[in-house]
Amino acid sequence: MTEEAYARAEADREGFWAEQAERLDWGRKWDRVLDWDNPPFAKWFSGGTINAAVNCVDRHVQAGRGDKVAIHWVGEPVDDTRDITYAQLQDEVNRAANALTELGVAKGDRVAIYLPMIPEAVITMLACARLGAPHTVVFGGFSADALASRIVDCGAKVVVTADGGYRRGAPSALKPAVDDAVAKADGLVEHVLVVRRTGQDVAWNESVDKWWHDVVDAQSNEHVAELHDAEHPLYVMYTSGTTGKPKGILHTTGGYLVGTSYSHWAVFDLKADTDVYWCTADIGWVTGHSYLVYGPLANGATQVLYEGTPDSPHKGRWWEIIEKYGVTIFYTAPTAIRTFMKWGRDIPAGFDLSSIRVLGSVGEPINPEAYVWYKENIGGGAGDGAGAPVVDTWWQTETGQILISPLPGVTEAKPGSAMRALPGIVADVVNDEGESVPDGSGGYLIIREPWPAMLRTVWGDDQRFKDTYWSRWPGVYFAGDGAKKDEDGDIWVLGRVDDVMNVSGHRLSTTEIESALVSHPKVAEAAVVGATDDTTGQAVCAFVILRDSAGDEDAADNADIVTDLRNHVAKEIGAIAKPRQVMVVPELPKTRSGKIMRRLLRDVAENREIGDVTTLADSSVMNLIQTGMNTSDD
Ligand code: WTA
Repeated sequence: MTEEAYARAEADREGFWAEQAERLDWGRKWDRVLDWDNPPFAKWFSGGTINAAVNCVDRHVQAGRGDKVAIHWVGEPVDDTRDITYAQLQDEVNRAANALTELGVAKGDRVAIYLPMIPEAVITMLACARLGAPHTVVFGGFSADALASRIVDCGAKVVVTADGGYRRGAPSALKPAVDDAVAKADGLVEHVLVVRRTGQDVAWNESVDKWWHDVVDAQSNEHVAELHDAEHPLYVMYTSGTTGKPKGILHTTGGYLVGTSYSHWAVFDLKADTDVYWCTADIGWVTGHSYLVYGPLANGATQVLYEGTPDSPHKGRWWEIIEKYGVTIFYTAPTAIRTFMKWGRDIPAGFDLSSIRVLGSVGEPINPEAYVWYKENIGGGAGDGAGAPVVDTWWQTETGQILISPLPGVTEAKPGSAMRALPGIVADVVNDEGESVPDGSGGYLIIREPWPAMLRTVWGDDQRFKDTYWSRWPGVYFAGDGAKKDEDGDIWVLGRVDDVMNVSGHRLSTTEIESALVSHPKVAEAAVVGATDDTTGQAVCAFVILRDSAGDEDAADNADIVTDLRNHVAKEIGAIAKPRQVMVVPELPKTRSGKIMRRLLRDVAENREIGDVTTLADSSVMNLIQTGMNTSDD
């Protein structure tokens, strides 16, 4: 990548993307790079045919790189490791594709994946891609209810899961949540394919459940891949929006693979022959899809895949892995970096991290202190002691690929800034009227022109797709983030401007958690805000009004209810959505039109002086809340 790419892309954007598309193997070449005749419904590389799995696996084997390690898999139990070459990955993906076919999965059918970070997760995704059966990966930390609603929304007929996974040294179960979800999905799921990972006991339903080792291992390792239309659906990834119901973000094949492989190569300055890349994201999130599966594998990279948490069995586990495999490019989230800062620099200092040459950050704004700490303590061995370049990458589930980021060795970087749009991407910051703001001002982050890996729609809901992303200013993609341009015109992303929270880099909807809370019989009303948190970026803080029948409000009762409510949210959505604090309050602050003023609740949650209350219907409410609330932050 060189500076000149920016000008080239600006002069001929479609030509630039066509050039990037040439990096992949196509069956039939496209007729048109971009069809934007019916916005906001884009078609990229229309007329072209391609198979994502072939591009991620087979073509590297055909090119004589079959013996190259694709994945250094590291299980959570120490010494439980496996190196998988591209040739081995090809065999495994082919077997899994044959097995899924035997289970009745055909092109266009949806497959839900609910797995820990084990090789089978990647293998299943690629097997689905090979068949043209869109996958929907559900993060293992989501509840049975959340899994069921995703299975139902996209109509998945097969679920691939495991008996369990390892978490902080102990096996934790996954299969019971699937059993529950399958029951809730009411006959929709025909088969559950179960990987034996932990060996724990599982309930077994003969008519539905199949062991992976029974069905997959015996299959042939030969599979003839069909070429799919460039716009054939690749996957659906659910993400939280401003309303209660998660949206199924649809990504398609050709453009997505062009966008992810190009950006993975350019942003991380990838040298596939020598780099060892590691992205710590879970495959249950979009980062795991674009920068653990599709981007790096399309580029033929060697990468680490780690099953566990950073602190098991000790707080240096990640650094030990970097040292062992000689990781050169490392991509993680600011929340993790802040946790390491708290643990102290001595921990990474105990390991040889000199292989690191590029560091990436994603998921939330990175504060300058964390950026500098990361550069110095993790990347300190690089760049003549100046520290490795840090790429602060801005993107979203919807964008599919990184859109804003510095480029190592090409552009300048500033701690805390995502800097500028990649070549081929047109981003801007605008005011309420949709006018571009001058340098030195703030506003809303937008994308002006379509890009290859953009979402194509919300699964089953074109109207919601238009309303959510394209209606605020005509013809412009609104990301839901606020941003500012500094005096040099570089972009600083400030965070969400809607009711979406960002907790440890995970997107959560305030409305979704409020709905979970009011579904509890004791809750009359609930309001949720994201309060600033030193480690997780934001934390979920809930304010609830109990029903009269919930008993007299003495402190002991309330403490029980608070615990109960936190667990209830975990059950409804998943442990990641558990409120840090639940405050039982007698009233909620509302405007005269009945809108909850979250801004004031945020003041309470962040222990700040309460802001302007003049628009409240009843201005004494804030006093009531502050004197009468019960909190819990266990
Ligand atoms: C936030 C994760 C600031 C942002 C890839 C966005 C960021 C949301 C950054 C998308 C960054 C992501 N700087 N904020 N570098 N990266 N975000 O869909 O608010 O899980 O809208 O995708 O995360 O979260 P999502």
